[in-house]
Amino acid sequence: MSLFITFEGCEGFGKSTQAGLLHERLKAAGYEVVRTQEPGGTPLGTEISRILKWSDQDAICPLAELMLFNASRAELVSRIVKPALAAGKIIVCDRYVDSTIVYQGLGRGLSLSTVRAINSIASQGLMPDLTLLLDMPVEKGQARKHMQTADRIEREGLGFHRKVHDGYLALAGEEPSRWLVVDASQTKDRIADIIWEKVKSLLDARYSAPNR
Ligand code: TMP
Repeated sequence: MSLFITFEGCEGFGKSTQAGLLHERLKAAGYEVVRTQEPGGTPLGTEISRILKWSDQDAICPLAELMLFNASRAELVSRIVKPALAAGKIIVCDRYVDSTIVYQGLGRGLSLSTVRAINSIASQGLMPDLTLLLDMPVEKGQARKHMQTADRIEREGLGFHRKVHDGYLALAGEEPSRWLVVDASQTKDRIADIIWEKVKSLLDARYSAPNR
């Protein structure tokens, strides 16, 4: 029954809310599901996440940033994601390798081949079965953000976030069989229903699902 689902999108587009709703819906339908996130999801990952988000050194160089996100990822994949998938569980993960391509590659300007190579080592080549991109105009997400509580990456300017946003759409366009782009300006319930239909169809295509 294993399935690896990731959520992607700019900050403030409702990813975490939707990951939580999908987790609850899968559990209610009788699936064994693990919800996790990047950076974080393990004790080491949580420490790395704190450094990445809240370090007051604005000057973590892009390559160090790339390595830190991937150190968190290496720990998460080997300790949580792979064992859960091997046990037949569904993983719902808030952000994964695509975040690194758009934030460190397109946002910070690191070479995409370097980013992809490091991502691939840290993730052991494991790619999601389905990636859900919550999308809306980048200015709307920025407007939802409170600068007082914004972390080191959220504080980046509109130009940075536009690159991230456009990068996501380009990735989704390159691999439409893995990505579903969902209009995040719809109501929370409508978005959750669209995501559920997609996940259900994927599960039905692969397995005959329990208790539904
Ligand atoms: P979030 O918990 O709000 O999603 O914050 C995670 C932040 O880290 C967000 O600004 C995106 C950023 N990020 C990267 O820059 N690269 C990565 O590889 C990942 C996973 C996240």
